[in-house]
Amino acid sequence: MKIYHLSAECYPVAKVGGLADVVGALPKYQNLAGLDAAVVMPFYDRKFTRENEFDTVFQSATLLGTRRLYFEILKEKTDKLGFPLYLVKIPGLVDRENIYSYPDETEQFIAFQIAFLDWISYSQQSPDIIHCHDHHSGLIPFLLKYSKLYTRLADTPTVFTIHNGQYHGAFGWDKLAYLPEIDLSKTGLLDWAGGINPLASAVRCAFKYTTVSPSYLDELSISSNGLEYLFFLERARGVGIINGIDTQVWNSATDPMIVEKYTAIKVTSGKQKNKEALCARFNLDPSKPLISFIGRLVLEKGAELLAEAIETCLKDYAGQVNFLILGAGDEDIEKDLQELKENFPVDCNVYIGYNEELAHQVYAGSDFLLMPSRVEPCGLNQLYSLRYGTMPVVRSTGGLKDTVIDFGDAGGYGIRFNNVSVADIAYSVGRALALYPDTKQMQTLRKRMMALDFSWDASAKQYIELYKGIISTTATT
Ligand code: ADP
Ligand code: GLC
Repeated sequence: MKIYHLSAECYPVAKVGGLADVVGALPKYQNLAGLDAAVVMPFYDRKFTRENEFDTVFQSATLLGTRRLYFEILKEKTDKLGFPLYLVKIPGLVDRENIYSYPDETEQFIAFQIAFLDWISYSQQSPDIIHCHDHHSGLIPFLLKYSKLYTRLADTPTVFTIHNGQYHGAFGWDKLAYLPEIDLSKTGLLDWAGGINPLASAVRCAFKYTTVSPSYLDELSISSNGLEYLFFLERARGVGIINGIDTQVWNSATDPMIVEKYTAIKVTSGKQKNKEALCARFNLDPSKPLISFIGRLVLEKGAELLAEAIETCLKDYAGQVNFLILGAGDEDIEKDLQELKENFPVDCNVYIGYNEELAHQVYAGSDFLLMPSRVEPCGLNQLYSLRYGTMPVVRSTGGLKDTVIDFGDAGGYGIRFNNVSVADIAYSVGRALALYPDTKQMQTLRKRMMALDFSWDASAKQYIELYKGIISTTATT
């Protein structure tokens, strides 16, 4: 079965968050299960593309409105990622360093999608499934069905996975001319609230859409930045499949980025050595419980509450706890956290920036990982922290609700709270601190966490079943 995954991010090529981790792992596990899955993404001028070799497998020119764009499809030479990697390079438009936030982002992602479709169309390919991830490739299900250019491919099955329903990639009808000629009687399928909305269009036009956890599928009809009614209407066509983690990359027993590798049997001493190294680097006290946060410093993650919540905890539980933050994002949140660090230099430290290696060290060396997310479609941080025997302290939402059971409940291993509030965070930190001195219980819970299986094996199979279901339905209609 030939699958193309289309995405703006893919680890280790270009990563901002969990989308990259998923697209860098799912195809690999699908291939291990016997599929033929490849990734197609925009070309970025970054470390990975500079340090690796590529073959040009296709070159052509396409049109974005009246603008003629030369493009090429590059393929990574070695397939060392566990899947063929194709990059769409469009000089002057899709060849820059950053992944997001250029003023002509709409043009960039439209051109990326058209170039991909031109390539598979002109090179006479017939993939079994085109799997699009988030709004950056959300126009493809519509274009395949209703563009006059790609009629040969009109019945190609598509799957659309929503990693983040808050971002839609919407733009005005004045840019309709950027799309290849379409069946104008179908423009309603592009429209939402008076504009072209790639996320809404993909939900309606893909053969199936998925979310990265079952709870998030339910939540989209309550909160999705204006698409609530759409998700209410389309609820039955959605499927929630929880993400897995790449245990070749995230594994405390083999991780080359951490100071001391450890299995569940050695979890207490292994974590302590990692904690000592981490605390030495950040001037913290390894004899105290260490609570960390890793993530994008944005409202979705509840990050604007961190400074106040940590200050409250450092006052309420003075001298009993240390905090460490690794993140980047909103400038005001970064500023608040820098101030917090200046006000509490002994008990708390903050690293503003993106640092993959440090993230591994923080998962390994922390006792608790705080995730006060307002929205969390799946969340990978809690899955990584479980794998490293670090107890997640999470708000019950989306994928956090689906993957973390409170230690107070049967078979539980984490801490859950209900509200995105300083009071709930402080209360949960109090629970963590009350648990921490019970070394026997901590060890039991850590072993329980590390025995959980959130590897991709199970989730990759669910996607394969979904593909098979779509292919068998299309074959009989
Ligand atoms: P999201 O995709 O919404 O950001 P996820 O929990 O799915 O959230 O994935 C976040 C991913 O990004 C994880 O791999 C996490 O370790 C990583 N990450 C986030 N912020 C940073 C950072 N500042 N430095 C290193 N890794 C980070
Ligand atoms: C998004 C979500 C996150 C999810 C990730 C991968 O960025 O915010 O919850 O884990 O995608 O699916």
